[in-house]
Formats: sequence, C-alpha cells, structure tokens
Amino acid sequence: MAGEFRSSDWDTHKMDYADPHVRIEELDSEIAVVDRALGALVDAGIIPHKDYDHDKLLAHRAAVAETFEIPWTAITHRMQRLIYAVNAVCQPTNMIAAGIFCGNTFISNAGAAVGPGACYQAANCIGVEIKPDEAARAERNVRTIDPTGIARILAADGIDVVRDFDGQIGLLYLDADGTEETGKGVYLDILKAAWDKLPAGAVILAHNSVNCADRLQHYLAFVRDPANCSASVNIIFDPEGLEVSAKK
Ligand SMILES: C[S@@+](CC[C@H](N)C(=O)[O-])C[C@H]1O[C@@H](n2cnc3c(N)ncnc32)[C@H](O)[C@@H]1O
Repeated sequence: MAGEFRSSDWDTHKMDYADPHVRIEELDSEIAVVDRALGALVDAGIIPHKDYDHDKLLAHRAAVAETFEIPWTAITHRMQRLIYAVNAVCQPTNMIAAGIFCGNTFISNAGAAVGPGACYQAANCIGVEIKPDEAARAERNVRTIDPTGIARILAADGIDVVRDFDGQIGLLYLDADGTEETGKGVYLDILKAAWDKLPAGAVILAHNSVNCADRLQHYLAFVRDPANCSASVNIIFDPEGLEVSAKK
C-alpha cells in the first residue's frame, strides 16, 4: 500500500539551513503535525504505535544544539522529531544510516538509543559517510553525546557497509547523494545491497522524497511496489519529505 501524509503548510515550512536550531513554529504545532504523520504510519501498519517520550526528544535536541558542529542541515525540527520517534517506537537492535554528512541526521535516528534521549538499548547504530573529513567530524560530534561507542561513524561507501554487515538491519536510513551521475538515485543501490539483511517489517527511511523525487523515481517505485514493501508512506510536512517504508 502506497500512501501520503501531507500537511497544508508543507511548502511554506522553511528553515534556515545554516541555523537549524532556530524554532520556526510553536512546539505544540510541531508536536501536533508529527503526531498526525505518525498516525499515518500506524494506519499503514509500518509502526505499531505512536507513543514516545517528548521530554527525551527535547533533551536530545538540546544536547545536539549544544555540542554538535553543524555547518548546515536540512533537517527541520519536525523531521528530527519524526525520525527520533520512529526509532524510539521501533527500537531497532541494529540501525544503519548511509550518507550522514556531519552526523545530524544520523543522531536524529541514533538519539533514541544513545545520549540524553536514549529510551532503549541498541547493539549497533552505524553512520556511514563516504567523505573522510566529514566522517571524522561526524564521529567527533557523536562522541560528545555517546561515550559508549554503540553509535559510531564509518568513513566508507554505504553500499559496502550494508552489504558486509554481519546481522539484521532493523532500520535503514538513506540520505547519500551519490555521484554526479547517480545523485540520490544511489538510495536504490544501497537498499538492494542491504535487502537480504532487512527482516520482514524492517523500516526504511528515505530523506528528500519530495525535493529529490525525480532522482528518486526508481527508488520510490521499488518501495511502493507491494511485491517489495508491505506499505510505504510519503511524509510531506516540509519541503524535503521522508518516504517511510516497511519491508514485506
Ligand atoms: C547532502 S548530505 C545529507 C545531508 C542531510 N540531508 C542533512 O540535511 O543534514 C549527503 C551525504 O552523503 C554522502 N555520500 C554520498 N554518497 C555516499 C555513499 N555512497 N555512501 C556514504 N555516503 C555517501 C556525501 O558525502 C554527503 O555528505
């Protein structure tokens, strides 16, 4: 089943990429729109419920704002909350995020398992970044809130890491922008390399489902095909979007 959640203000909900900590809507409004998006995922059968600890999300957000070096990010507070909540609900033992730049998107996922927002015990939260300098910065950032090493960054190609991962991947987050030729089309290559490691029900998150929909058309066709995924919902509450899918 392919579906869509769209808020009325999705195209005007614009953040400053260089100043991601600035609040651009009231907290109540942010919570309400994310709650409705989570409801759409529950209705589609992708996540079992939509309950998560709101205070822990805010503790996570404050720690990231205080200690992470973030040159820019397109992750709105809505998106940070949604990604955190999906991880908090699904509690994947192993989470891999591919294409994580400075680590902000990675920690939005891993923050449900490590740091002040932690609400469960994971085995591995792995962020993969192909540019060594960016990977090093992301690792420095992650270390500021996770002394355990459960959350960690690898300087590598996401395709290789998921293909070689020894275990099941409960949640896969995709944000790599590939080469000039492939662009975000690389999501499908990473997903196919991970496919055998994803158990039925594994959740796949793909950022930029709206603003990169053209480059993602093969990826989106794959996850929206009922032969591959039991459900896939395009969450459109900011100009970037997030496709949320569950493996069949
Ligand atoms: C544009 S950034 C994502 C930023 C994120 N959406 C945000 O708002 O913070 C994409 C990152 O993917 C990395 N990348 C590209 N291809 C990759 C691959 N095959 N494996 C891992 N990382 C990759 C790039 O180096 C880049 O840092």
